[in-house]
Amino acid sequence: MSVDYFQKKIDTINRLKKEKNAIILAHNYVLGEVQDVADFVGDSLELSIKAQNIDEDVIVFCGVQFMAETAKILSPEKTVLHPVKECGCPMADMADAPSLREFMKPYPEAVTVCYVNSTAELKTEVDICCTSANAAEIIALIPKEKDIIFLPDKNLGANVVKDTGREMILWDGFCPTHMRLRPDYIIRKKKEYPHAVVIAHPECRPEVVELADQSLSTGGMLRFARETDAKQIIVATELGIIHRLQKENPDKQFISISEQAVCMTMKMIELDHIIYALENNETEIILDEETIEKAKLPILRMIEMKDFNIW
Ligand code: 13P
Ligand code: SF4
Repeated sequence: MSVDYFQKKIDTINRLKKEKNAIILAHNYVLGEVQDVADFVGDSLELSIKAQNIDEDVIVFCGVQFMAETAKILSPEKTVLHPVKECGCPMADMADAPSLREFMKPYPEAVTVCYVNSTAELKTEVDICCTSANAAEIIALIPKEKDIIFLPDKNLGANVVKDTGREMILWDGFCPTHMRLRPDYIIRKKKEYPHAVVIAHPECRPEVVELADQSLSTGGMLRFARETDAKQIIVATELGIIHRLQKENPDKQFISISEQAVCMTMKMIELDHIIYALENNETEIILDEETIEKAKLPILRMIEMKDFNIW
């Protein structure tokens, strides 16, 4: 693709952003050209914190549905546009509120800890949210005698159980992209690059995380890459992160453990969709007031990370 081809689109986006008083937020997994046109790129926690403090009237959210919903919940007075409305997170769709109510029947007193990769509807029924960046710290806030139900990601849950030693009742959800990454992929890459360090996302299965030197959120991976002396880093997560890792660290080599590590929905948003979204005010995230109020509570508890007197 010629530079000119992208530059025209980027110029159009920048003009529309000014006209509409808009800001573009993007997740670390979206296409490289979308990351490059964004005003802020981050992991789920960084994006949630950023969404609370936006001056512009319009937020164009380039990521999956639950991320755009979280931005709306935290900044309900803003117009939040999701350029491709079909772009969801399959893991978030593995848990819904009625199923949680049923699941909780044997544990009526349990504390529910919900990964932000979940629907707004589910968030209205849980006690506290977490991301991959803060899950262990959130668990540490909960009194020892309490049962914990962790949902929807069983892999993140199992990795947190291993790290903290705290037993939890795990929901049977998973990320299809990370689930595909097998331990032998790491073993093979380590043979090929014997001096490389390995970083893995905690959505990977515990057997994969066990083989890594560090288990980190995407934001944590970017910090680690900046700080490490290692020159070769094997990366066990979605391929989109390689763009930013390589851009910020041109002197280091980043090796993805598999070309299959692609989240299809994260890759659906292209520059043309952003132009269309800004020109047509589409697709706006609409949530009713009650959902916003109820779903905001567990997200704010997570961000503020205080010892809440709620359990
Ligand atoms: P991070 O919060 O680490 O960016 O992860 C989000 C996600 O969807 C990973 O699959
Ligand atoms: Fe959901 Fe997995 Fe895609 Fe993240 S990588 S958005 S968890 S499907």
